[in-house]
Amino acid sequence: MEFREVVKNRYSCKKYDGRKVDKAHLHNILEAGRLAPTAKNLQEQHIYVIESEEALAKIDEATPCRYGASTVLVVAFDKNNVFTYPGGKRDSGVEDAAIVATHLTLAAYNEGVDSCWINFFDPDKLAQALDLPENEEILMLLDLGYAAEGAGPLENHSSRKELSETVSYL
Ligand SMILES: Cc1cc2nc3c(=O)[nH]c(=O)nc-3n(C[C@H](O)[C@H](O)[C@H](O)COP(=O)(O)O)c2cc1C
Repeated sequence: MEFREVVKNRYSCKKYDGRKVDKAHLHNILEAGRLAPTAKNLQEQHIYVIESEEALAKIDEATPCRYGASTVLVVAFDKNNVFTYPGGKRDSGVEDAAIVATHLTLAAYNEGVDSCWINFFDPDKLAQALDLPENEEILMLLDLGYAAEGAGPLENHSSRKELSETVSYL
Protein backbone atom coordinates (compact mmCIF):
# COMPACT_ATOMS: atom_id res chain seq x y z
CA MET A 1 0.00 0.00 0.00
CA GLU A 2 1.18 3.52 -0.66
CA PHE A 3 2.61 5.16 2.50
CA ARG A 4 0.32 8.21 2.35
CA GLU A 5 -2.69 5.92 2.08
CA VAL A 6 -1.59 3.94 5.15
CA VAL A 7 -1.10 7.10 7.21
CA LYS A 8 -4.38 8.62 6.10
CA ASN A 9 -6.65 5.60 6.30
CA ARG A 10 -5.38 3.81 9.40
CA TYR A 11 -7.91 4.22 12.17
CA SER A 12 -8.58 2.94 15.67
CA CYS A 13 -10.79 -0.11 15.33
CA LYS A 14 -13.10 -0.64 18.29
CA LYS A 15 -15.04 -3.73 17.16
CA TYR A 16 -13.43 -6.90 15.80
CA ASP A 17 -14.95 -10.01 14.29
CA GLY A 18 -12.73 -12.32 16.40
CA ARG A 19 -10.87 -13.92 13.45
CA LYS A 20 -7.26 -14.87 14.19
CA VAL A 21 -4.57 -12.66 12.67
CA ASP A 22 -2.92 -14.36 9.71
CA LYS A 23 0.54 -15.66 10.75
CA ALA A 24 2.36 -14.13 7.74
CA HIS A 25 0.73 -10.77 8.38
CA LEU A 26 1.63 -10.95 12.07
CA HIS A 27 5.22 -11.74 11.15
CA ASN A 28 5.41 -8.73 8.83
CA ILE A 29 3.94 -6.48 11.54
CA LEU A 30 6.49 -7.69 14.10
CA GLU A 31 9.27 -7.31 11.54
CA ALA A 32 8.32 -3.63 11.04
CA GLY A 33 8.69 -3.19 14.81
CA ARG A 34 12.08 -4.87 14.73
CA LEU A 35 13.31 -2.39 12.13
CA ALA A 36 12.26 0.69 14.12
CA PRO A 37 14.98 3.15 15.10
CA THR A 38 15.89 3.47 18.79
CA ALA A 39 18.25 5.81 20.65
CA LYS A 40 21.84 4.55 20.32
CA ASN A 41 20.27 1.54 18.58
CA LEU A 42 19.61 0.06 22.03
CA GLN A 43 16.53 -1.88 20.84
CA GLU A 44 15.27 -2.12 24.40
CA GLN A 45 11.76 -3.11 23.31
CA HIS A 46 10.17 -6.44 24.16
CA ILE A 47 6.95 -7.39 22.39
CA TYR A 48 4.67 -10.04 23.86
CA VAL A 49 2.17 -11.63 21.47
CA ILE A 50 -0.98 -12.43 23.42
CA GLU A 51 -3.13 -15.05 21.72
CA SER A 52 -3.94 -17.76 24.27
CA GLU A 53 -7.33 -17.67 25.98
CA GLU A 54 -5.58 -17.58 29.35
CA ALA A 55 -3.43 -14.53 28.48
CA LEU A 56 -6.30 -12.74 26.70
CA ALA A 57 -8.35 -13.12 29.89
CA LYS A 58 -5.59 -11.25 31.75
CA ILE A 59 -5.83 -8.44 29.18
CA ASP A 60 -9.61 -8.34 29.71
CA GLU A 61 -9.07 -8.07 33.45
CA ALA A 62 -6.73 -5.10 32.88
CA THR A 63 -8.80 -3.13 30.35
CA PRO A 64 -12.25 -3.00 28.75
CA CYS A 65 -10.57 -2.02 25.46
CA ARG A 66 -9.84 -5.33 23.71
CA TYR A 67 -13.04 -4.96 21.70
CA GLY A 68 -12.96 -8.63 20.65
CA ALA A 69 -9.49 -8.52 19.07
CA SER A 70 -8.02 -12.01 18.70
CA THR A 71 -4.45 -10.85 19.24
CA VAL A 72 -2.99 -8.20 21.51
CA LEU A 73 0.62 -7.05 21.36
CA VAL A 74 2.08 -5.89 24.65
CA VAL A 75 4.85 -3.41 23.95
CA ALA A 76 7.30 -3.25 26.84
CA PHE A 77 10.86 -2.04 27.24
CA ASP A 78 13.88 -2.84 29.39
CA LYS A 79 14.15 -0.01 31.93
CA ASN A 80 17.76 -1.01 32.61
CA ASN A 81 18.83 -0.57 28.99
CA VAL A 82 17.80 3.00 28.17
CA PHE A 83 19.83 6.03 27.13
CA THR A 84 19.63 9.02 29.48
CA TYR A 85 19.76 12.27 27.55
CA PRO A 86 22.03 15.18 28.49
CA GLY A 87 20.45 17.10 31.37
CA GLY A 88 19.29 13.84 32.94
CA LYS A 89 15.57 14.68 32.77
CA ARG A 90 14.49 12.09 30.22
CA ASP A 91 15.55 8.76 28.89
CA SER A 92 14.84 6.84 25.72
CA GLY A 93 12.62 4.05 27.08
CA VAL A 94 9.14 5.41 26.49
CA GLU A 95 9.91 7.09 23.21
CA ASP A 96 11.80 4.14 21.72
CA ALA A 97 8.91 1.85 22.63
CA ALA A 98 6.48 4.41 21.15
CA ILE A 99 8.41 4.45 17.87
CA VAL A 100 8.27 0.65 17.76
CA ALA A 101 4.55 0.76 18.55
CA THR A 102 3.96 3.28 15.76
CA HIS A 103 5.76 1.02 13.28
CA LEU A 104 3.61 -1.91 14.43
CA THR A 105 0.42 0.15 14.06
CA LEU A 106 1.16 1.39 10.56
CA ALA A 107 2.47 -1.99 9.43
CA ALA A 108 -0.74 -3.62 10.66
CA TYR A 109 -2.86 -1.41 8.43
CA ASN A 110 -0.51 -2.04 5.53
CA GLU A 111 -1.07 -5.79 6.04
CA GLY A 112 -4.86 -5.37 6.06
CA VAL A 113 -5.01 -5.90 9.84
CA ASP A 114 -7.04 -3.46 11.95
CA SER A 115 -5.70 -2.21 15.24
CA CYS A 116 -6.14 0.10 18.20
CA TRP A 117 -3.50 1.63 20.45
CA ILE A 118 -4.55 1.08 24.09
CA ASN A 119 -3.32 2.85 27.19
CA PHE A 120 -6.41 2.51 29.39
CA PHE A 121 -4.90 0.07 31.89
CA ASP A 122 -2.51 0.05 34.86
CA PRO A 123 0.84 -1.03 33.39
CA ASP A 124 2.27 -2.24 36.71
CA LYS A 125 -0.75 -4.42 37.49
CA LEU A 126 -0.72 -5.91 33.99
CA ALA A 127 3.04 -6.57 34.12
CA GLN A 128 2.44 -8.46 37.37
CA ALA A 129 -0.48 -10.44 35.94
CA LEU A 130 1.59 -11.45 32.90
CA ASP A 131 4.59 -12.23 35.12
CA LEU A 132 6.92 -9.94 33.19
CA PRO A 133 10.50 -9.54 34.43
CA GLU A 134 11.06 -6.74 37.01
CA ASN A 135 13.22 -4.75 34.58
CA GLU A 136 10.44 -4.42 31.98
CA GLU A 137 7.84 -1.67 31.83
CA ILE A 138 4.76 -1.86 29.62
CA LEU A 139 4.20 1.15 27.35
CA MET A 140 1.04 0.18 25.51
CA LEU A 141 -1.17 -2.56 24.13
CA LEU A 142 -1.99 -2.96 20.46
CA ASP A 143 -5.27 -4.71 19.68
CA LEU A 144 -4.99 -6.57 16.36
CA GLY A 145 -7.69 -8.20 14.28
CA TYR A 146 -10.23 -7.65 11.57
CA ALA A 147 -13.02 -5.08 11.86
CA ALA A 148 -16.48 -6.54 12.49
CA GLU A 149 -19.13 -5.89 9.88
CA GLY A 150 -20.31 -2.30 10.14
CA ALA A 151 -17.33 -1.23 12.25
CA GLY A 152 -15.17 1.58 10.96
CA PRO A 153 -13.51 4.83 11.90
CA LEU A 154 -15.17 6.92 14.60
CA GLU A 155 -16.10 10.49 13.73
CA ASN A 156 -13.01 11.98 15.33
CA HIS A 157 -10.77 10.05 12.93
CA SER A 158 -11.32 12.69 10.26
CA SER A 159 -10.99 15.57 12.71
CA ARG A 160 -7.40 16.79 12.76
CA LYS A 161 -6.05 20.28 13.40
CA GLU A 162 -4.78 22.26 10.45
CA LEU A 163 -1.03 22.28 9.88
CA SER A 164 -1.04 26.00 10.69
CA GLU A 165 -2.20 25.18 14.22
CA THR A 166 0.53 22.68 14.99
CA VAL A 167 3.50 23.80 12.87
CA SER A 168 5.57 26.97 13.18
CA TYR A 169 8.40 27.99 10.91
CA LEU A 170 11.15 29.86 12.80
C1 LIG B 1 -1.48 7.09 23.03
C2 LIG B 1 -2.84 6.59 22.67
C3 LIG B 1 -3.62 5.95 23.62
C4 LIG B 1 -4.89 5.46 23.29
N1 LIG B 1 -5.58 4.74 24.22
C5 LIG B 1 -6.78 4.23 23.89
C6 LIG B 1 -7.49 3.41 24.81
O1 LIG B 1 -7.02 3.10 25.91
N2 LIG B 1 -8.72 2.95 24.43
C7 LIG B 1 -9.26 3.22 23.21
O2 LIG B 1 -10.36 2.77 22.92
N3 LIG B 1 -8.60 3.98 22.29
C8 LIG B 1 -7.37 4.47 22.60
N4 LIG B 1 -6.66 5.20 21.67
C9 LIG B 1 -7.25 5.48 20.36
C10 LIG B 1 -7.65 6.94 20.23
O3 LIG B 1 -8.85 7.14 20.91
C11 LIG B 1 -7.72 7.30 18.73
O4 LIG B 1 -6.47 7.08 18.16
C12 LIG B 1 -8.08 8.76 18.49
O5 LIG B 1 -9.36 9.00 19.01
C13 LIG B 1 -8.06 9.10 17.01
O6 LIG B 1 -8.80 8.20 16.26
P1 LIG B 1 -8.16 7.42 15.03
O7 LIG B 1 -6.98 6.63 15.57
O8 LIG B 1 -9.26 6.53 14.51
O9 LIG B 1 -7.71 8.44 14.02
C14 LIG B 1 -5.40 5.68 21.98
C15 LIG B 1 -4.60 6.30 21.02
C16 LIG B 1 -3.35 6.75 21.34
C17 LIG B 1 -2.51 7.39 20.28
